[in-house]
Amino acid sequence: MAKLKTTFFCQSCGAQYSKWQGQCNSCKSWNTIEEEVIEKPKKGDWKTTVNNDTSRAAKPLKISEIDTTNTPRLNLLDSELNRVLGGGIVPGSLTLLGGEPGIGKSTLMLQIALKLPYVTLYISGEESQKQIKLRAQRIAPNSEHCYILTETNTQKIFRQIDTIKPQIIVVDSIQTLQSDFLEASAGSVSQIKQTTSELMKFSKETATPIILIGHITKDGSIAGPKILEHMVDTVLQFEGDRNHVFRILRAHKNRFGSTHELGIYEMQGDGLKEVKNPSQILISEKDSPLSGNAVAVTLEGVRPLLVEVQALVSSAVYGTPQRSATGFNAKRLNMLLAVLEKRAGFKLAAKDVFLNITGGINVKDPAIDLAVVAAILSSNNDAVLTQNYCFAGEIGLSGEIRPVQRVEKRITEAEKLGFEAIFIAKHNKFNLKPKNIQIHLISKIEELLDFF
Ligand code: TYD
Ligand code: MG
Repeated sequence: MAKLKTTFFCQSCGAQYSKWQGQCNSCKSWNTIEEEVIEKPKKGDWKTTVNNDTSRAAKPLKISEIDTTNTPRLNLLDSELNRVLGGGIVPGSLTLLGGEPGIGKSTLMLQIALKLPYVTLYISGEESQKQIKLRAQRIAPNSEHCYILTETNTQKIFRQIDTIKPQIIVVDSIQTLQSDFLEASAGSVSQIKQTTSELMKFSKETATPIILIGHITKDGSIAGPKILEHMVDTVLQFEGDRNHVFRILRAHKNRFGSTHELGIYEMQGDGLKEVKNPSQILISEKDSPLSGNAVAVTLEGVRPLLVEVQALVSSAVYGTPQRSATGFNAKRLNMLLAVLEKRAGFKLAAKDVFLNITGGINVKDPAIDLAVVAAILSSNNDAVLTQNYCFAGEIGLSGEIRPVQRVEKRITEAEKLGFEAIFIAKHNKFNLKPKNIQIHLISKIEELLDFF
């Protein structure tokens, strides 16, 4: 028997080594290098490849000759997902959906597969057909066109695809697939690479869109080699707090659209429901205003999203004060505290600061800064913002309030939701004369103090 060929791969970045070592040279992580059995490709120079490779007949075309007329995007009948993808899914595209376990990836993909009016194939390597049927009954009991296949071997999968001829395929998950061409176990770097490239080839040649579900690692990146993210056309991330009902779908990479759009879902007993008007869902109704609360008018994609920021500032009991942020970058919080300390003279170095963005979501728009600072000041002074205020401004290192984009949209939304005043940067240009909302222009954080 021929000796098995093996090689060593870093399980986190995919770098290849001829022998084992403790630390990966390229990504510097420890104990990630594992041995995998591989089949080396047959030797041959480029001439033999040219003469023997008759399987593909791709030839170069002038860009003006390439025909794009008959490839409309497929509507997935889910306005949130359609928007995040840039207006439906592109035929022949490979999409990767990542997210923490239990966040709802399988639920989202199954409910789309069940809803579509054309033949869909949902391949699961994680759950049995019965389990999937039970889940499907909670979501949408009657679907004529959705096939469920529980199989992990790609060659067998392609045989089934050939008979069913699905128009869209979901694979749950890429880490469970295995190809006959490799000996390595499912989920290893070489299997992920191999099965993804087989699926990619199939998808491009038949113009069938494929959605791959991917696991993520402890630190939140998609498990397997980084190359997986390079191979696919679109990388979507499904995030949220499992203890809250809201889930957010973002595009991290999109070859066919912008990555600024955001989809919001609510997890209910019968699947994920689209949240059509998200702007006020995250703000709680209160009878009387409380200290330490401030509302930020953020923008996700083109849609305004109002979020409530809560801060708690208390005297530090131990020598090193605690800083804790949920839904907000902890480094950014430290930066904002340093700015407050230096520019506004607050002695926050001896204070514990806890920050929470309500609703369990993670906001990336820098316009939230001003609300964070307002909430911290309000909690520190135990002073309540007497009016119904909201904020939209980024804060610079010297304590200046910086303009934010699309401020008119934010003002209009805040006015619509009944806020009495909005704080924005002095240099923010806008062409609006709103009747029901006051606009406070400020240029430094100290100026906020007059309003408490
Ligand atoms: P799931 O799609 O299995 O997560 P993933 O594939 O990302 O690991 O989602 C599992 C969670 O969703 C589970 O904890 C129960 C919850 N859920 C609902 O609340 N309502 C539903 O209708 C369904 C199907 C699931
Ligand atoms: Mg799942």
